[in-house]
Amino acid sequence: MQTAHTVSQVREVVRGWHREGLSVGFVPTMGNLHSGHISLVREAMARCDKVVVSIFVNPTQFGPNEDFDRYPRTLDADAAQLVDAGAALLFAPSVEEIYPLGQNQTWVDVEGLGDYLCGANREGHFRGVTTVVSKLFNIVQPDVAVFGEKDFQQLAILRRMSEELLFPVKIVGAPTSREDDGLAKSSRNGFLDESERKLAPLIYANLQKLRSDIEQGARDFRNLEQRYTERLNTAGFQVDYLTIANASSLAPAAKNDTDLVVAVAAKLGKTRLIDNVSLAVVDNP
Ligand code: PAF
Repeated sequence: MQTAHTVSQVREVVRGWHREGLSVGFVPTMGNLHSGHISLVREAMARCDKVVVSIFVNPTQFGPNEDFDRYPRTLDADAAQLVDAGAALLFAPSVEEIYPLGQNQTWVDVEGLGDYLCGANREGHFRGVTTVVSKLFNIVQPDVAVFGEKDFQQLAILRRMSEELLFPVKIVGAPTSREDDGLAKSSRNGFLDESERKLAPLIYANLQKLRSDIEQGARDFRNLEQRYTERLNTAGFQVDYLTIANASSLAPAAKNDTDLVVAVAAKLGKTRLIDNVSLAVVDNP
């Protein structure tokens, strides 16, 4: 595996591959890799000849009270996992390389989809994500980019951005990897203490139960949201939102919507966890 720290190094390597007619897959990450990330790398490898992985903790997607400084930087261990997985190029730039003029003045902002779910309480977060992913697409020039379905809203926003800005990149969503007890894999799980870690799987357990309630005909979505929010809060979480949303618009679902996503963000102590399940309502009562 090659490692590049500058934009020009990446461009040179990728130009060579494209000249040889090889396809390029891309997995953008913020590092602290776990097997969930590696499954994204494998998805990209199944679709492309060469896979680039970026590791960049992007300051513009963290709010002033979020965990930018606390975010684990584990480059050597990450690189070792990527070698094992078979990635061809690791791109690990500095903040100055990605934001060369300092304070950024040019932003990519997807309106609408960013208003709901995480976007409602994390002002500027998705603008930071779409801006950095645009920069990374311009640097790497991939044919395919893979993102996890765990960040459902991020994936929806990036699909929209890529389509509207005519990036020649196929966006692929990969299923959420889970621990044996159902907890969605996340770099943040490492922040949980022992008792929080024991509670954490309740998020997915409740999402599954809620999904099965809807499959069995429950349609008062606002009431379901309230009930399940209370359950999680009583169990020791602080629910930020638990929303049954239209899977396309991400707006709160109406009774006759058929493609739904149930998305939740909840804090356990200081750690904010997110998860979601999708469902298609086939037979509306
Ligand atoms: O999902 C992430 O890790 C980040 O939001 C991403 C897509 C790498 C952009 O910084």
